Amino acid sequence: MKVSLYRILVLVAFLLCVGKAYAAAPIPNDMLLSAPESITAKKAPVQFPHGKHSNAGLECKTCHHKWDGKSEMLKCSSAGCHDQPSKKADMSFYKAFHASKAKQSCVGCHKAAKKQGNTVAPTSCRQCHPKK
Ligand code: HEC
Ligand code: HEC
Ligand code: HEC
Repeated sequence: MKVSLYRILVLVAFLLCVGKAYAAAPIPNDMLLSAPESITAKKAPVQFPHGKHSNAGLECKTCHHKWDGKSEMLKCSSAGCHDQPSKKADMSFYKAFHASKAKQSCVGCHKAAKKQGNTVAPTSCRQCHPKK
């Protein structure tokens, strides 16, 4: 197969960009997620095996859905994002993790996975929020 120089240059440029984006912040492995101070937490913090998810072939943008591919990752609760304490608000903190139809929410994706026969992805409150 003949590989043109142009293709190689494009590949190198791509890898440099990816490398730069990843160098910005290390990809977390295991995380413990909790509510920001602006929200009075009723539930226990949640274990999130980030590495298992980001190494499982899921694209970063599946979850980091506002990410432009190069800037620093925002938190779900960053100002102007899912920062509303009221459960009912469109941009509520709660919905970011529990919206049952959104593929970027924990519960939404896990419910879809369960439908596909996955038995590992947790979907019940107690599985994610151990008793306080
Ligand atoms: C797949 C995991 C998962 C499941 C299942 C889940 N949650 Fe959560 N929940 C989270 C994550 C992640 C957060 C954000 C981190 C935090 O606040 O602890 C959160 C936050 C919350 C919050 C806002 C913060 C607080 O502590 O008040 C409430 C309320 C909540 N969950 C209630 C529930 C209830 C009730 C259920 C069951 C109907 C449930 N969750 C099921 C992952 C889950
Ligand atoms: C299954 C969903 C999911 C996938 C896939 C995913 N992430 Fe994340 N990532 C999260 C969540 C949730 C957080 C915690 C956000 C928070 O604290 O509000 C996070 C946090 C991060 C943070 C830390 C941000 C901070 O300031 O604390 C970085 C860096 C990051 N992810 C990079 C990546 C990269 C790079 C990829 C792709 C290789 C990726 N993530 C894939 C869900 C995901
Ligand atoms: C886009 C899809 C997707 C999103 C979003 C997602 N998950 Fe998962 N998660 C999965 C799948 C698929 C599995 C099952 C992996 C397997 O079968 O080994 C899983 C498994 C898990 C497990 C069990 C891991 C194990 O090996 O026991 C935990 C805990 C978990 N997820 C927490 C979370 C939390 C907390 C969030 C939100 C912050 C979240 N996940 C968001 C797809 C997702």
